[in-house]
Amino acid sequence: MNSDSNKDKIVVIDFGSQVTKLIARRIREYSVLSKILTLKDLKKKNIFRNVKGIVLSGGPSTVTKNSFPKIPNEIFNLNIPILGICYGLQLIVKQFKGKVKANIKKREFGRAVLIKKKNSLLTKNFFKKNKSVVWMSHQDSVYKLPLDFSKIASTSQSTMTIIENKKRKIYGIQFHPEVTHTNNGNIIFKNFIFDICKAKKQWKLVFEKKRIIKEIKQTVQKSKVICALSGGVDSSVVALLIHKAIGKNLKCIMVDTGLMRKNEFKESYQIFKNKYKLNVKIIDASKIYFKNLRNITDPEKKRKIIGSLFIKIFETEAKLFKDVKFLAQGTLYPDIIESRSVSGSKTSKIKSHHNVGGLPKKMNLKLIEPLKEFFKDEVRKLGNAVGLAKSISKKHPFPGPGLAIRIIGNITTKKVKILQEADHIFINELIKSNLYDKIWQAYVALLPVKTVGVMGDSRTYEYICLIRAVISEDGMTADYFNFPKNFLDEISNKIINNVKGINRVVYDITSKPPSTIELE
Ligand code: XMP
Repeated sequence: MNSDSNKDKIVVIDFGSQVTKLIARRIREYSVLSKILTLKDLKKKNIFRNVKGIVLSGGPSTVTKNSFPKIPNEIFNLNIPILGICYGLQLIVKQFKGKVKANIKKREFGRAVLIKKKNSLLTKNFFKKNKSVVWMSHQDSVYKLPLDFSKIASTSQSTMTIIENKKRKIYGIQFHPEVTHTNNGNIIFKNFIFDICKAKKQWKLVFEKKRIIKEIKQTVQKSKVICALSGGVDSSVVALLIHKAIGKNLKCIMVDTGLMRKNEFKESYQIFKNKYKLNVKIIDASKIYFKNLRNITDPEKKRKIIGSLFIKIFETEAKLFKDVKFLAQGTLYPDIIESRSVSGSKTSKIKSHHNVGGLPKKMNLKLIEPLKEFFKDEVRKLGNAVGLAKSISKKHPFPGPGLAIRIIGNITTKKVKILQEADHIFINELIKSNLYDKIWQAYVALLPVKTVGVMGDSRTYEYICLIRAVISEDGMTADYFNFPKNFLDEISNKIINNVKGINRVVYDITSKPPSTIELE
């Protein structure tokens, strides 16, 4: 029996919302074990063993159609508290014979003001002066409560925004407490987990480390794994986890695409080889990358080319090692949801993230992606648990396609050099000024535009570079960082004085959304 089965847990039944994993994460933030279940999982034996609470997620379906995803009615009789979020709320109402209707005129997307109508354990300490700002994303609304349910809070557009059946401990909320745009959303989870479900804190991230290592051992057995190691946080954590699980049977490969930050490639190689004693092989593929990317300006094409070249190199490499059956990658949860296409979710595809979108349909190697359930900050903590040096675990995220998506337009070796120099100056200044750790991600991008300047007494006609620095919780949303003016002055001077090829520096002050963190 695995150790998790004896722990108190809250399960999240997934109806396909883009943010289901965020619910599980919010629960884990309170040190309570949380598992996501699909509707199929519900058929398994003992699936509700030690389950102290059930959350029904949101999702793209509607209960107003003849057929819609639902849970067996018996689950409502297990005497386990239930919290339905968005679609989850509508499903509770439908299964208890209340009424829900599609209401295009009253749909709500974005922020809404929630007004308290009644006290509830679920909303203890949640409202400030009987109000709260919440994040909505719905078009169906409840218009008739089922028997024994009461209304706890409303917005101007939906009267039954929070409902409860106190006796049976069944709760429903129309908004999304799991997203950071909802003020105090975590308090709803805290109340549900501890006051309503009475769950005990029995979960720690270090347990995940043990679970992952055990799972890797079981999956890989005596065969071998090759791991794409870039020197970033994610692939480093993956490599160390797999190394702990299977030792020498892990072969790490560092592909030099020529699209990394200045000096980064060599420095990472030294650390992995000398400090962690990993089995690392370097492949210099920069020529082939530049050749394949020549005159490519479309961002999606760039990503696809880089992704599939990367896999091809790995497959070729794998053939050189006997018994390699697996390819390990540092894919994170946000990489997967942002690459997911329209099917199965209301969101349309945003970008083909390198780790996900570039993979060919048919692959000879099986993928191992031990971090695909996690968010960046959780991965950093896993890194600390597995002994990763702080200099790596604190590194800002760096995208798989590298500088290719930070050079807008076509890519040349000359542009890469210019960009590397400017980026190096910026990042070093951030570190020197103690700003690096306050920022979630920072970089310089090169724009495909030349403008006129004057240096000394001569006219210049050079590129513009763009500085990006954002604060964020998990990369899903982000705000630009508010630099002191003198810092920006200094950066601009330093770049222009030291980098031949740039004569203008601009600072990007857009948030995500509407922009994304990377430019392409
Ligand atoms: P965006 O630009 O989509 O980025 O707001 C969100 C986060 O993801 C990183 N990113 C990537 N990471 N492969 C990766 O491994 C990719 O193709 C990729 N594209 C974006 C980005 O740097 C940011 O941290």
